[in-house]
Amino acid sequence: MIGVFDSGFGGLTVLKDVVKRLPHYDYLYLGDSARVPYGERPQETVYEYTLQAMEFLFRKGCVLVIIACNTISSRALRKIQQEFLPGRYPDRRVLGVIRPSAEELMARGCAKVGILATNGVVNSKIYTEELEEAEPPIEIFYQACPLLVPLIEAGRHDENGCDTLVSQYLDELFRQDGGIDTLLLSCTHYPLLYESFRRHTPSNVALLSQGPIVADKLENYLTRHTEVEERLSRKGGRVFFSTGPLEPFNRLAGAFYGHAVHALPAVLDSAESVGKKRG
Ligand code: DGL
Repeated sequence: MIGVFDSGFGGLTVLKDVVKRLPHYDYLYLGDSARVPYGERPQETVYEYTLQAMEFLFRKGCVLVIIACNTISSRALRKIQQEFLPGRYPDRRVLGVIRPSAEELMARGCAKVGILATNGVVNSKIYTEELEEAEPPIEIFYQACPLLVPLIEAGRHDENGCDTLVSQYLDELFRQDGGIDTLLLSCTHYPLLYESFRRHTPSNVALLSQGPIVADKLENYLTRHTEVEERLSRKGGRVFFSTGPLEPFNRLAGAFYGHAVHALPAVLDSAESVGKKRG
């Protein structure tokens, strides 16, 4: 199976595009809705939570996991790939959303990019790092939007308050530099507010969501890594797990994903027991 992991519902915006592009594979989605948002949490905590999620997904049979979350991709992915996998799951693969997005920005030849994200991503400056070698150079401007994920997770994305916040965050971003040519929704929750972001963004500025980008890059990855691709099951199955209460998850996840969702409860190992296994 292909596992898709996010702190909550956000990763479903990525799953939707990935499934559209590669429908024949089996997918397992895990949302850690009991502990969302991750965006304001310390790096160590995000790493511990992610280890617990990886244990869960690998035990369920995922060969490949997409971390459909910028916060986790910026705070924990490298350590998972370099320290956790080689010792414990050398035959599994974990990919994130930052690298594919950075590649897309370079391929588009952007000059000035606005990154809309959680505080965790903004503070990590991960996009600056990933785009350091870009030729021609890309200037990056960050704007944290910390109030959006809690509102989206509470199912309040349609309220006027959300639209007002989007407009304020964009004003702050464009005050940093009026010449920004591209905006990247660098939080997988934000595509739920795409219309609102579009309305408050000048029409000559490109507005990118990560779902189609990740779907493209994943398709390309699987063509290059046949040793992974050959191990993926392909019955077109979709299974959803949530660590939080199931009724609100199913209701809101349906809106994110565009189809009815019947999630199963996920119980993750405590950080302590994952730590023991690691040791
Ligand atoms: N969806 C996550 C991201 O892409 C953020 C959600 C959170 O703060 O937990 O960054």
